[in-house]
Amino acid sequence: MKISVVVSSRTGNTAMLAEQVRHVAEERLGAGSCLYYGAPDTRVPDGDLIFVGFWTDKGTCDETMAAFLEKLSGKKIFLFGTAGFGGSEEYFERILHNVAGRIPEGNTVIGTYMCQGRMAQAVRARYEQMAKEDPGDARIQAMLANFDQALEHPDETDLCRLTEAVENVLKEA
Ligand SMILES: Cc1cc2nc3c(=O)[nH]c(=O)nc-3n(C[C@H](O)[C@H](O)[C@H](O)COP(=O)(O)O)c2cc1C
Repeated sequence: MKISVVVSSRTGNTAMLAEQVRHVAEERLGAGSCLYYGAPDTRVPDGDLIFVGFWTDKGTCDETMAAFLEKLSGKKIFLFGTAGFGGSEEYFERILHNVAGRIPEGNTVIGTYMCQGRMAQAVRARYEQMAKEDPGDARIQAMLANFDQALEHPDETDLCRLTEAVENVLKEA
């Protein structure tokens, strides 16, 4: 089986997952089984199975990735992504649903995975300013706590869970 890994990553979080996907796939399928590794291109890569990695941009994938997804036809797709907000599978499911909504009929999503990914320090500075202006706002405190939690991710546990998910689809694909 031949696979491709297509990834959109601005600050490296999703790229970290993508590297792990390629590593796990090549361990199981052999060197040379990954036909394409890189950013979404105008050309759709060959291969039976495409691993698509995205960073969350306003609740879905970024437009470059969405434009890539819209060109796919007859592919098996494993979707994986990172998001700044974590702590809820339901939140991740919503994002995955939005991303999957950009995939035309005739393709099959055969697996998904999401975890939290650290955000830029400027985001914390913005939250800190908001907290200064409104010290009693519990929502802002929760945003600060979430930011600090995100700093640890993707971590070893995230990569182990991803490995498990990838191995499962490779067994069945
Ligand atoms: C412009 C912009 C929009 C973002 N929108 C969201 C969002 O809607 N939800 C979320 O959970 N994280 C959001 N994030 C956080 C990123 O998705 C998160 O930090 C991700 O791990 C970045 O991945 P990367 O390092 O692969 O680029 C946003 C980040 C940026 C820069």
